[in-house]
Amino acid sequence: MHEGIWTTILGLFGLMTIAVLILPLARRYKFPYTVLLAVLGIVLGLLIDATRGAHLGPVSDLFHSFESFNLTSEIIIFVFLPALVFESSLSIDVRKLMADIRPILFLAVVGLLISAFMVGGAVYAVSGMGFVVCLLLGAILSATDPVAVVAIFKDLGAPKRLAILVEGESLFNDATAIVLFNILVAMLLGAADADLFGGALNFIKVFFGGIVVGFLMARLFAWIIGHVGGIALVEVTLTISLAYLSFLIAEHYLHVSGVMATVTAALVMGSIGRTSMSGGGWHLLSETWENLGFWANSLIFVLVGMAVPEIMTHFSRDMVLTLVVLLVTAFVARGVLTHAVLPALSKAHMAADVSLGFRTVMWWGGLRGAVSLALALAVFENDAFPEDVRNFVAALVCAFVLFTLFINATTVGTVMKAFGLDRLSPADLALRNRTIARALDDIGAQVHRVAAERRIPESVADTVARHYRERVEQIRAEERDGADLSEQDWLKIGLMATIGQERQGYFQQYSGGYVHSGIARELVAMTDELMDATKARGVEGYRDVCNYILGFNWRFRLSMRLQRRLGIAGPMSKRLANRMERLRTCQAVLTGVRRSGVDDIRALVGDAAADALCQMLDERLERTMSALSALRAQYPDYAAELQQRYLHQVALRRERADYNRLHDEAIIGAEIYANLQNELEEREAAMGRRPDLDLGLDPEAMVSRVPIFADLSAARIGAIARLLKSQLAIPGETICAKGEAGNSMYFVSSGAIAVHVEPDPVMLGSGDFFGELALLTGAPRTVDVVAETFSDLLILEKRDFDKLLDEHADLKATIERVAEERLKK
Ligand code: CMP
Repeated sequence: MHEGIWTTILGLFGLMTIAVLILPLARRYKFPYTVLLAVLGIVLGLLIDATRGAHLGPVSDLFHSFESFNLTSEIIIFVFLPALVFESSLSIDVRKLMADIRPILFLAVVGLLISAFMVGGAVYAVSGMGFVVCLLLGAILSATDPVAVVAIFKDLGAPKRLAILVEGESLFNDATAIVLFNILVAMLLGAADADLFGGALNFIKVFFGGIVVGFLMARLFAWIIGHVGGIALVEVTLTISLAYLSFLIAEHYLHVSGVMATVTAALVMGSIGRTSMSGGGWHLLSETWENLGFWANSLIFVLVGMAVPEIMTHFSRDMVLTLVVLLVTAFVARGVLTHAVLPALSKAHMAADVSLGFRTVMWWGGLRGAVSLALALAVFENDAFPEDVRNFVAALVCAFVLFTLFINATTVGTVMKAFGLDRLSPADLALRNRTIARALDDIGAQVHRVAAERRIPESVADTVARHYRERVEQIRAEERDGADLSEQDWLKIGLMATIGQERQGYFQQYSGGYVHSGIARELVAMTDELMDATKARGVEGYRDVCNYILGFNWRFRLSMRLQRRLGIAGPMSKRLANRMERLRTCQAVLTGVRRSGVDDIRALVGDAAADALCQMLDERLERTMSALSALRAQYPDYAAELQQRYLHQVALRRERADYNRLHDEAIIGAEIYANLQNELEEREAAMGRRPDLDLGLDPEAMVSRVPIFADLSAARIGAIARLLKSQLAIPGETICAKGEAGNSMYFVSSGAIAVHVEPDPVMLGSGDFFGELALLTGAPRTVDVVAETFSDLLILEKRDFDKLLDEHADLKATIERVAEERLKK
């Protein structure tokens, strides 16, 4: 048989075919897929050995081609690991990860070190090997494997938080183990001395360096993805490149942790990808990665299994005792971490509480897999190590991995059940039952209708309908339909459901092209904030976040300061335009939720809660609208321009949807369709970017709008304008605070200003002025002056006050007269 590319093809696809056929089997018998794959691999490995030299025609070819896949540590690390790590990190919710980041990082870094030293020490005591070799073994075996763990947890439907704790730990501790491994290998091979401090420093550099590389690369790729014109195929392909390039650049070029780089890149992509790529791209992304992950997963476990028989030939009888000690100490070490260190962390308020059930599953579910084996293979392949070291490490790691795969992986489900972790919480259970009752409620009638249409005898329909009726009755009888949940609980459940809808709405607005990616991202982050607050503090939390959202945040205030202090108007104008876009999108989505979303929720949470929900939504909608109106009143031309753009966009989308429909229904052919598409794209491109908002703070124009200056000549207005500074005040802003020293007075060019005198505030509008008293009398400010709406103000500093008044006698007279009247009051 000639070696060649065809051998590789035969091997690859032969193996792939056999491997994926295991999945239906695993589903059928409810057995972990990964474990079955490993069994298959071992069987194949043994068969290949047994049939070597026999002439079995194509079967021999096939086996021979399998053998040509010499699984090396480099293949695992550079081919499989990036894809596996990227795929499992992509679906992790970063906010949930962050909520538990302290225990996760502690377990992954400090925990791994503790475990490595405990295992290393115990093995050293019984094996007769050098301490560093034993420590190396400890490091390799302390890395829990993300692949095996994630696969098992997906199968079992583990609670979200538990899955994140275990997945997060296993992703991060791979990085730690690899770094520690490299340091120990360097020491063993005489390339480095044992230097604790240097090692620690190196570790920090490698670990956090990886995070930085991954973050930067993901941001760069997200930016590129935002500029490829929404072609889903390109977008998704770029994420695949990102997975491998971030790993390679970090590991190979920058000598920092590739695992951390890829994990971070995937976390970033997972959280901002949906608002960076087109709607189709996001869809394709999850499907493509699910597929890639599945392929990588299927192949790696079979390949690992196939490597087992050969490695295990080096397992000698005198290793049995070491293996037993190894197993016991490894589980004891892990137990110390999960059952002693973790609770201590919680006690010290360094980590949120983790329940006993969770901790037990974390303990028992810490499987070892491909990463441990890759590191063991790296030792096994390396001729620089003495042979007994190579065999020792490889055989023990292999045996250990098999143990966790065959014993832990197959029983972790039972442990979960024992702690009731596979059951729904009371609130979820009530919601589930109401969902069933609602879905089944109408089914009896529907069955009868279909039966009548299809001329199926009434009696048959009765039997079927009865079955459903009984199920509903049974659920009702179980009294689990939430009778024990209070109104407040149901309101909270309803609120969370509307927040979910709101979030979905923002994604739709983004993929429809109505809102920019940055703003969509802000809005989505806002719903996360709402969700967290509602979960923690119910209605109150929800209200607090709503208030915060409608206010002006620190970024806005920063740009305001830039405009006022340095006259740089760009950032502020952008913030205001963003605010308008954000409020508009929020209003559109909330209106949708209020109009159609609440009905579905009503059936689940009941009338009382739904009514309260509607009231809250109405309130929020009203406040959003009034904030939007305030902004529109200040910049009517800009608002009209944006509205026009928006309607154009709506029209374009409708047009496109219509063409798509006609094409789908084969009413128009491909040529006409392509022609129409092109034209649509041209028109879309012609709309261009969002226009900039002009703050309208040109002093000269503002001065001429103030009546007391209006009659002056252009030259005079110019001279006065040079003395005045312009400024935009935002609603609710205190411009003068009672009792403060006053250094300037203000002319109102436009807007509404409230002077808070007793008993009722006096409103000032365009052409009015205030703050003159402090300048005339030298006394502190007499009352609070607050902007009611967005207001354009002209500011006159004290040092220019006298100069201006000396030059304009009539102005002086007016100001003094008004001041006198005000003082009298
Ligand atoms: P000053 O005291 O510098 O700061 C507060 C300002 O409120 C004050 O100057 C006046 O310009 C303004 N003010 C005070 N009393 C009245 C009033 N009765 N009607 C309108 N404006 C007033």
